[in-house]
Amino acid sequence: MAKTLSPGAENAQLQQEYTELIRTVLSVKYPDGAPKAFVHTYGCQGNVADGERLMGMLTEMGYVFTDVREEADFILLNTCAIREHAEDRIYGNVGALKPLKNSRPDVIVALCGCMMQQAHVCEKIKKSYPFVNLVFGTFALPRFPALVYRVLTGEKHVFDTGEESASPLNEGLPVFRESKFKAWLPVMYGCNNFCTYCVVPYVRGRERSRTAEAILAEAKTIIAGGAKEITLLGQNVNSYGKGSPDGVDFPALLRMLNALPGDFKIRFMTSHPKDCTKELLDTMASCEKVAHHLHLPVQSGSNRVLREMNRCYTRETYLELIRYARSVMPDISLTSDIIVGFPGETYEEFLQTLSLIREVCFTSLFTFIFSPRAGTKAANMDDPVPAAEKSRWFSELIRAQEEIAAERSRETVGRVFEVLVEGSAREQNSWLTGRTDGNVIIDFPGDEKLIGTRANVRVTQAKNWVLTGELI
Ligand code: SAH
Ligand code: SF4
Ligand code: F3S
Repeated sequence: MAKTLSPGAENAQLQQEYTELIRTVLSVKYPDGAPKAFVHTYGCQGNVADGERLMGMLTEMGYVFTDVREEADFILLNTCAIREHAEDRIYGNVGALKPLKNSRPDVIVALCGCMMQQAHVCEKIKKSYPFVNLVFGTFALPRFPALVYRVLTGEKHVFDTGEESASPLNEGLPVFRESKFKAWLPVMYGCNNFCTYCVVPYVRGRERSRTAEAILAEAKTIIAGGAKEITLLGQNVNSYGKGSPDGVDFPALLRMLNALPGDFKIRFMTSHPKDCTKELLDTMASCEKVAHHLHLPVQSGSNRVLREMNRCYTRETYLELIRYARSVMPDISLTSDIIVGFPGETYEEFLQTLSLIREVCFTSLFTFIFSPRAGTKAANMDDPVPAAEKSRWFSELIRAQEEIAAERSRETVGRVFEVLVEGSAREQNSWLTGRTDGNVIIDFPGDEKLIGTRANVRVTQAKNWVLTGELI
């Protein structure tokens, strides 16, 4: 009688079998040492987390990693589709691989991620970049070993952009974590919100949450590995667990993670204002391991624009959330995303965004000029404002935020912050760079041995928005 396996189990078994086959093929093909893979991820942390799973699978296949493209036997670009600029950069980088592929035809060139989940992109790759060997989308992660096997055994062009997946939560995949002390932990995938400008729901599919059990198990592994910080990831973490059988919602998940023993902090992103509840803010306030940092993208300060964006909240409800957050966590650090030049936005409406950011005083902002994305509603909206005008508004926004951040920075001089020491500072020898709970960077002189630990730093100087300090 045939064995019956659950879809996930079947997948795990197939992954194992293909991985074994690949190891054999590679040991024959590269008798002088392990083949090298170059992996580069573009886009958000969710994509980075996928990249770590792909690297985990490559490791099990027998690859080692290199930062030098020219010496790689396998080149994998994990792509992002969020704005046109992101896609242009990737086309440029793919084009730049052609001479390499000409001189070493054996090199495998693979593209994956959000940008590849779009039919028009795959067509363009087939037509204009025929040297690309493997293209797969965001749903194909668990099929990666099978796809690599097909390429290694001679198929010239392998494309897999199907949306079906026997393992839609990517459970059980090995993970190659790039940092020892900071870990990404996906809690959910996909998005149901269909903000009218955004491509994510089209390239990542519908929302689906991992079970609390799977998340807690991964968190325990991460903590046992010595991580000092875990960032929970999802496009809208506030809808974590909606409709899940175990009844664990996001605040409950935070409390469960907070209860795990160990010396670590918990961060999360991204929160959608329409689903951000007072219960979540109360939970952040009462869980000592949860960093007091909230990334709450507002996008615009104009109610008409917010409605056109399908954001489902108003300026007033947003500001009320901020007020409540500050009342339960006076030290909370707030960051946000802004889109300038949404189709039909007027200068007066843009000024409402400016007034909102002045009212809130965000620690920092991620600012973008609207970029039309194929297939989204906003791509077909009337967009009369010229690009040069939008650029002027954009500069105005940046200047306003710089003033706000400079003022905030000045207020921190003399105060002591606990930071996670993340590495050497870029600009100065024997200086370190640390990040506060509020996601603010402080550079200070110190020994490299401190990297990966927590340290207390007093801010001594604020130059614009760059903070420098001293160890205490
Ligand atoms: N899920 C998150 C955002 C993910 S995308 C949320 O809902 O907040 C990150 C940011 O990119 C968005 O917040 C938005 O500010 C920006 N963005 C997304 N699509 C864009 C587009 N078409 N043009 C310009 N900016 C865009
Ligand atoms: Fe995009 Fe909106 Fe979903 Fe965020 S919530 S990923 S902006 S559709
Ligand atoms: Fe980009 Fe996909 Fe993330 S489009 S921002 S990599 S979800």
